[in-house]
Amino acid sequence: MLMQASEEKDKQSLTQLCRDVLEKNQRGEFTIPAEGLYPHQWLWDSCFIAIGLAEFDVTRAQNEIKSLLRGQWLNGMLPHMIFGDDDSQKRDRNIWQSWRNPYAPEAVSTSGMTQPPMLAEAVVRIGEKLSKVERRGWYQDIFPALVQYHTWLYKERDPHNEGLVMLVHPWESGLDNSPPWIDQLHLHARPWWVSAVDKLNLDKVFLLFRRDTKHVPPGQRLDAIDSLLYFSILQRMKRKNWDTEAILARSHFTMQDLAYNAIFIRANQHLRDIASFIGHQLSDSLLSSMEKTEQALESLWDDFYKQYYSRVFISQKLVKEPSLAALLPLYAGSISKERAEELVKLLKSPNQFGSKYPVPSVPLSSNWYKELGYWQGPSWINTNWLIADGLERYGYTNEARDLREKSLKLIQKHGPYEYFSAKSGQPAGAKNFSWTAALALHMHAALEKTNNNN
Ligand code: GLC
Repeated sequence: MLMQASEEKDKQSLTQLCRDVLEKNQRGEFTIPAEGLYPHQWLWDSCFIAIGLAEFDVTRAQNEIKSLLRGQWLNGMLPHMIFGDDDSQKRDRNIWQSWRNPYAPEAVSTSGMTQPPMLAEAVVRIGEKLSKVERRGWYQDIFPALVQYHTWLYKERDPHNEGLVMLVHPWESGLDNSPPWIDQLHLHARPWWVSAVDKLNLDKVFLLFRRDTKHVPPGQRLDAIDSLLYFSILQRMKRKNWDTEAILARSHFTMQDLAYNAIFIRANQHLRDIASFIGHQLSDSLLSSMEKTEQALESLWDDFYKQYYSRVFISQKLVKEPSLAALLPLYAGSISKERAEELVKLLKSPNQFGSKYPVPSVPLSSNWYKELGYWQGPSWINTNWLIADGLERYGYTNEARDLREKSLKLIQKHGPYEYFSAKSGQPAGAKNFSWTAALALHMHAALEKTNNNN
């Protein structure tokens, strides 16, 4: 009895802690990912944040999403960052110069690229908390922006009509420097000035200008040279005024990213549900593209390794470098039961993803694995959330519960950090990280629900 009471108290204090973090990180109508390190509004962060906010303040969750739409470009793109207009963000606004593109919004400065399409999921999770009448109004409000975004993804990012969306910068994947992207980056020609920095060992000097390493030890962030290479791609895209066609004419660094397309499939399913709830017809061309994406995902399957991979857009070669993206087709929900079973084997295998504090962003036995390396080893709560959701929908309820419980225990013990060692549970990256706090609230509610059902 005493045990139960203290467990109850722990849960309450976890809920309070997570709400406090979300309050601390609130900036008017939206929430920043973390103080200092991430001062803007980010696309997929706000979607995860809204999912958690909906657990205790639906209006705030709705505002979080509406404020994301301030940044939508006239061509439908949702940018991955929206900048504030105060002086402290001038440097970032000038690095990106979104105003170079005629489709960029006039009222706000944004980045010139996108991020994983979690919007539809957030819209539906908020909708679940509303009455039927309110839900209809909510869906009607957001529907046009959502359709425009999905239409833009097909129009500009699937130029050969293959069904798979391609990304033009690793940051668009949200899993910034995961092995498939770094592998490709290293195959790509370097600009002379990055080679010079490398040769002359000037990367230490570059540290002086980096914001991230002022907040987090360099070993937990992107490698300096890789980071400069990312910056050089950004500069190249900016010189093309963020115009996808012009960028594609010169750049060969484009990937049909597995995680992104898996998330897109789920988002398309949500979009279909939203449309049918409000009695809207999606265009035939959008519907047929959506169907194609589900089929095209299968072309990323490798029968020897029994898993899905990302693919290089130009050469159509699979990039057989390991990352947790391999597990995200579970979240897509479009794959067969047999394939899902293979992925669950990977998830449980002790030298793959079956760590003590799952789910590592890179398999434990991989040469890429770094215990606290950014997206190259640690466990992240947003990807755990996606995987748990997929497991549940494929009927793996015990596995989903286990993953949620383990995620919550980590947060309970250390607080809502950005990521955690998959081996020791050691917290790392930014502390008081918003999506960790928000998704903890949602996972907590999901566990309560399954416990009550049993
Ligand atoms: C990093 C992450 C990205 C996230 C952003 C803000 O760039 O890789 O996924 O959206 O930080 O939290």
